[in-house]
Amino acid sequence: MAGVRVRLEAREADWEFAPGRTIRGFAYNGIVPGPLIEANVGDTIEVELKNSLHQATTTHWHGIRVPAEMDGTEAVQPPVEPGETFKYRFVVPDAGTFWYHSHTNETEQLERGLYGALVVRDPGEPSFDAERVLLLDDLKLDPDGDVAAFGDEHEHHAGREGDVRLVNGRQEPQLEMAGDTIERWRMVNAANSRFVRLSLGGRPFVVIGTDGGLLAEPIPAAEVLVTPGERVDLAIGPFSEGERLRIEALPYDRGKGETKTETYATLEVGPAAASHAHIPSTLRKIEPLVAADTTPNRTIDLKALMHAGHHQRDDPVRVGELQVWNLVNETGQDHPFHIHGFFFQVLQENGEPPSVLAWKDTVNVPRKTETRIAWLPDDRPGEWMYHCHILEHHAMGMMAHFSVVP
Ligand code: C2O
Ligand code: CU
Repeated sequence: MAGVRVRLEAREADWEFAPGRTIRGFAYNGIVPGPLIEANVGDTIEVELKNSLHQATTTHWHGIRVPAEMDGTEAVQPPVEPGETFKYRFVVPDAGTFWYHSHTNETEQLERGLYGALVVRDPGEPSFDAERVLLLDDLKLDPDGDVAAFGDEHEHHAGREGDVRLVNGRQEPQLEMAGDTIERWRMVNAANSRFVRLSLGGRPFVVIGTDGGLLAEPIPAAEVLVTPGERVDLAIGPFSEGERLRIEALPYDRGKGETKTETYATLEVGPAAASHAHIPSTLRKIEPLVAADTTPNRTIDLKALMHAGHHQRDDPVRVGELQVWNLVNETGQDHPFHIHGFFFQVLQENGEPPSVLAWKDTVNVPRKTETRIAWLPDDRPGEWMYHCHILEHHAMGMMAHFSVVP
């Protein structure tokens, strides 16, 4: 097993998100997004986090099945104070598109840029003509062009959204791709609150993966909803030389009124290149954990969770005991529900089984609906948590700690 060593320094930096437009960011190694961390399945990753900010921070490895002590939350480690360092060390047991981000004062630290992608490869996965990692985000600026103040009343409830849409830390960049080729796009929604109903100018693409790696089978699609915290892996193309497509978000109502179509980036198709990509009809084997109609052993009432305030504690779960949870959303807003450290399968979305088996760590629970999930606590006892990945909701207390006990 190989080792991957990374040094991350969280520090303030001038973040030029568009030509000539700069804000004061918080950035890993001075860049937004932070450095791409790449590893193969089974590798050990060692990260030395140095905090050069003027406030405490921690780093969470979103989607990685780390040991509890390495989860990067204040439940499992003291916050890393200014000037201090902390060493994270963990094996990456699953291939997929993951990400890392601050887990302290998140609403501000993520908005200011403290996030990056972590890609874990399995040499046995299908290969494409090229691959890229695209982190989607937005920025809320004040009239002077500075990062808007945090925490107004409306933001607490509705979540923070800004008008500047970013791909890999740049406002509406222009991307290029060779004609006739098929690329793998690993996409992460790193925004505080903004939902992305992703479209490529209406052109078909294929969804091949999500939070926990490849799907069982590819799904042809013309759009896919990516909520904060979620990832999708897409097979994109082939297109013809000279085409120009918009990477955009279609209108979506998450309970705050319908948004307009919004551009994230443009894609220019260049001269054709030889293609060797091929999308197999089976991507991998995923065994269902349980039947879709299994009776839940726990109900999580998101409305109660939203209003109960800080430091809630849910009942412990035991290693090896299958969990079937019903997530009930009676609020007027959608909530992307995230569990730390474990993958689940969605059994039902409002009574309907999903069209394909997948491993997820974040799932949107649309307003006035229920989502049933199943997960198996493997042998990593300790302190864990779940929360809404709308960061303002999480900050307001829409979360709970729970322990996994031996
Ligand atoms: Cu992206 Cu508590 O996590
Ligand atoms: Cu929420």
